[in-house]
Amino acid sequence: MPDTPTPAPGERTVADVMSHPVVTAQPAETLAVAAERMRERRVGSVVVIDHDERAIGILTERDMIRLAAAGSDSSSAKVSEWMTGDPDTISPDIEARAAFALLAEKGYRHIPVVDGQRLVGIVSMRDLMRVAMIQPAAAQAHEMPKGLEGVVVADTTVGDVRGLEGFYHYRQYSAVDLARSRPLEDVWYLLFKGRLPERRAERETFMADIAPRRVIPPAVADVLPAIARSGDTFVPLDALRTAVSQYAATLGFRASHDTDDAELRDNAMSTCAVVPTLICALWRLRQGFEPIEPRADLAYAANYLYMMQGAEPPPGHAAAVEKYLISTIDHGFNASTFTARVITSTGADLGAAVVGAIGALSGPLHGGAPSRALQMLEEIGTADRAEAWLRAAVERGDRLMGFGHRVYKTDDPRSLMLREVADSLGGDKMELARHIEATAVRVLDELKPGRRLYTNVEFYAGIVMDRCGIPPELFTPTFSASRTIGWCTHILEQAADNRLIRPSAQYVGPPPPQPVPPIA
Ligand SMILES: CC(C)(COP(=O)(O)OP(=O)(O)OC[C@H]1O[C@@H](n2cnc3c(N)ncnc32)[C@H](O)[C@@H]1OP(=O)(O)O)[C@@H](O)C(=O)NCCC(=O)NCCS
Repeated sequence: MPDTPTPAPGERTVADVMSHPVVTAQPAETLAVAAERMRERRVGSVVVIDHDERAIGILTERDMIRLAAAGSDSSSAKVSEWMTGDPDTISPDIEARAAFALLAEKGYRHIPVVDGQRLVGIVSMRDLMRVAMIQPAAAQAHEMPKGLEGVVVADTTVGDVRGLEGFYHYRQYSAVDLARSRPLEDVWYLLFKGRLPERRAERETFMADIAPRRVIPPAVADVLPAIARSGDTFVPLDALRTAVSQYAATLGFRASHDTDDAELRDNAMSTCAVVPTLICALWRLRQGFEPIEPRADLAYAANYLYMMQGAEPPPGHAAAVEKYLISTIDHGFNASTFTARVITSTGADLGAAVVGAIGALSGPLHGGAPSRALQMLEEIGTADRAEAWLRAAVERGDRLMGFGHRVYKTDDPRSLMLREVADSLGGDKMELARHIEATAVRVLDELKPGRRLYTNVEFYAGIVMDRCGIPPELFTPTFSASRTIGWCTHILEQAADNRLIRPSAQYVGPPPPQPVPPIA
């Protein structure tokens, strides 16, 4: 890789930020051995060296994912077969900021640092980001878009959203393909274990692990009636976060800082399994009904509808809700996921992170829109009123609920899939919804040109859930149930390679220090 001119005095160089000694592997080693070393040393890559200790390749987590996707056996595959050979390297004396630009340009996350022929370190995007963070705040503040739009804050192998393409994925699979072809439990398995179950027995063992964890422990069940009765208006997500907090305390979840991966995973499995039961129990209690015990013989979505409605749902409803649930498990570094990771980065317990994430999700700009989108449909009422209603709303400066997205500047792939699901369920609202969608997109394009506003996941989600008998108050809690799986996956990833997330802000108030005035 080309080197840059001599660093200016005081500039930090690659040598100042690189990690060393480097975790290495031999070309003849198996991938299983190299992967174990990466896991033990908590690194995302190993540099492959020859007998003279020269860097001849690099092997990263992405290569492991490729291997898993190809169905190859890591205990026989050799490092030399899967590494990227003859890797680009960087010299230790180049400026860290120039190195950052090079890594970003090439799309690398790690690059070996070589002095002459000698491997002296490895530098990662993360190391270089650290340097960016200690630049004077004024320099950064101009670069940081409001709302952190587009700012990369972590490496993740959970998934990603490609806003311009209208595509998102969990691990290496399109999330929409997963929703179309696998049950929710398989996707949960994929996220927690890094691969899909290959045999039915694996799925069944996983489901058998989940089933008993759905049951609310008696010490939590005892306090649910009080939580459900709190407040003049029942806000299901508020009740849920209170109950999850109680649940984590009752089960004695320990600070993630003090737990190993196995204990944290156990907490995560239990939390993901119990959240649907808590949602249904709280809602039923508030309606004056007894909670319904979960059924071990029903899969996630069918059991959820059963615990809510008291009867086994028609298969079409369970399948539709399951697709919605799968499509909302994860979605990049959205506000609630980021919240969960920030809380985990402090070393707090998994319950604290999930409770915080539920709080973030409760805001209408994030998770609170599906019932509002349905409400909009009801307010508009008939197709002939749509144009005038939508135009007036946008002209007033109102947001049309179920439209617009921070990342998608084209059709939200979740909304396309849910439109299909809604179509297959039929119902009188569907024709009106399609008309409102087309009119809103046209009106937004005319009144908000260039903003590229289309339907988001929430627009058709409301229609699907309504059709399957889920009451509007439970739309966002239903979203929170599946998203708990995504949050927990991120919590596990954050805890496995943790660094306290602690950004800075630019102070823009009256210039300090000013004398403290006496009280009048
Ligand atoms: C999701 C959302 C918060 C993303 O917002 P964002 O990336 O911060 O976008 P901005 O607030 O910067 O909006 C950009 C412009 O588009 C407009 N806009 C965005 N979403 C809009 C909507 N749903 N209706 C009308 N105008 C909208 C904004 O008014 C703004 O216009 P301006 O440039 O004249 O000020 C936003 O689109 C929204 O509020 N949508 C409605 C709520 C919703 O559906 N939430 C569920 C999300 S999955």
